[in-house]
Amino acid sequence: MYIESLRLQDFRSYHQVTLTPPRGTTVFVGENGAGKTNLLEAVHLCCLGRSHRTANDREMIRTGSETCAVQVRAMRGDGADTVGVRLFSGAEKRRKVLHINGKNASRTGELMGHVTCVMFSPEDIELMRGAPQGRRRFLDMLLSQCGAGYYYALQTYNSALKQRNALLHAIARGEAQASMLEVWDEQLSQSAVPVVRARQYAAENLCQLARAHYAHIGGRDNEVFALRYIGHLAESSNPAGDLRKLLLARREEDLRRVTTTAGPHRDDLLLTLAGQDMRAFASQGQMRTAVLALRLSEVDLLTSRQGETPLLLLDDVLSELDAGRRTRLLERISGIQTLLTCTDLSDLTGAQPEAVLRVRPGEICAEDA
Ligand SMILES: Nc1ncnc2c1ncn2[C@@H]1O[C@H](COP(=O)(O)OP(=O)(O)O)[C@@H](O)[C@H]1O
Ligand SMILES: [Mg+2]
Repeated sequence: MYIESLRLQDFRSYHQVTLTPPRGTTVFVGENGAGKTNLLEAVHLCCLGRSHRTANDREMIRTGSETCAVQVRAMRGDGADTVGVRLFSGAEKRRKVLHINGKNASRTGELMGHVTCVMFSPEDIELMRGAPQGRRRFLDMLLSQCGAGYYYALQTYNSALKQRNALLHAIARGEAQASMLEVWDEQLSQSAVPVVRARQYAAENLCQLARAHYAHIGGRDNEVFALRYIGHLAESSNPAGDLRKLLLARREEDLRRVTTTAGPHRDDLLLTLAGQDMRAFASQGQMRTAVLALRLSEVDLLTSRQGETPLLLLDDVLSELDAGRRTRLLERISGIQTLLTCTDLSDLTGAQPEAVLRVRPGEICAEDA
C-alpha cells in the first residue's frame, strides 16, 4: 500500500500541512527539533491509534490548541482507505475520535489493519537492551496490525488481569474472600489463549525471517541470530489449562505479593547471537543489525498477512549505519513506500529518493537542488 496524502492540523509543531508523497522514498531533512519525527508520528497515529513515543495523547496537540487532527489517505490493492484521528485536550470523556472512510469509530481496534506501518527509530535499540515490556509492545503492535482480533483479545486479557489484581488488593484489605479468585483465574486463563497462540506463531516466524535478514545485513556467516518466545506459557499447547494450574499453584505467592505473578503479561523475547544472550555480550553494531533484522521481519510478516506492503517510516536510522549495512538495508526495502528523516543529506549516500523536503519549525518545503 502507499499513502496519497497526509494531512495535519494543529499537530505538534504544525498548524496546517498537507503532503502528497510519491510512491517511492520521500526524505525529510532538517535540523534537530525541526519537526521531522512529528511527521512520522502522525502517520503512526493514523495506523495504530497511538504515538510511537508517548502514551500521553495530549502531548501531540499543538501548544495553545484545544484539538488536533491527522488524516491519511492510502491506496491498497483493494481500494482506497481514509483514516483519521482527532484528539481533544479538554476534560470531556471522549478525548480521541477516529474516522474511518467517512464514519466515526469509537474503538481504537477498528483502526487496526486499514493503513499499516513499520517504524524504524533510534530508540529501537531499547528492544535489545531494555526491559521486557518493550519487547512485548513490539509483538503486540505487530500482531495488532495483523488484525484487530489480537488487539481486542489483549484488551480482554488486560482487563481480566486488572480485575484479578484489584481483587487481590481487596483480599489483602480483608474486604474479600480468597475463594473469589476462582472466577478471575478462569477468566484470565481463557483470555490468555488467543494472546499466547498469536505470540507463539509470531515468535516462530520472526525467528526464521530475522535470522535471514541478520545474515544478509550483518554479512557474517558465523553470527547466527535467533529469537525465542519465553514466558510461563511459551511452550504450552494448552495455555488455558496450564495457566489455570499455575494460578492455583501460585495463589499463596500472589496473595502475599498482591499481584498476579504468572501469565503472558510477564512474557519476553530472548534474542541470541551464536546461542548467547545478546543483552550480555553483543556490540552496539550487532545490536543495530539485530534491530533492523527484526523490523524487516515485521515488514515481511505484515506483507504476507495482508497481501500488501506496509509503509516504512525510517527515523534518523541511516546515519547510524556503515556504508555496507546502509546499502543492504536500502536494497531490502526498495519498492516499498518510505518516509525517511535525516539531519544531513550526506546520510543518504546510496539512496535514491523521489522527493526531498526541507523541514523547518512549522513548515515543509521542497529542497532546492
Ligand atoms: N505539542 C506541541 N506543540 C508545539 N510544538 C511542539 C509540540 N510537541 C513538540 N513540539 C515541537 O516539535 C519539535 C520537535 O519535533 P521533532 O519532530 O521531534 O524534531 P526532529 O526534527 O528533531 O525529529 C520541538 O521543537 C518541539 O518544540
Ligand atoms: Mg527526530
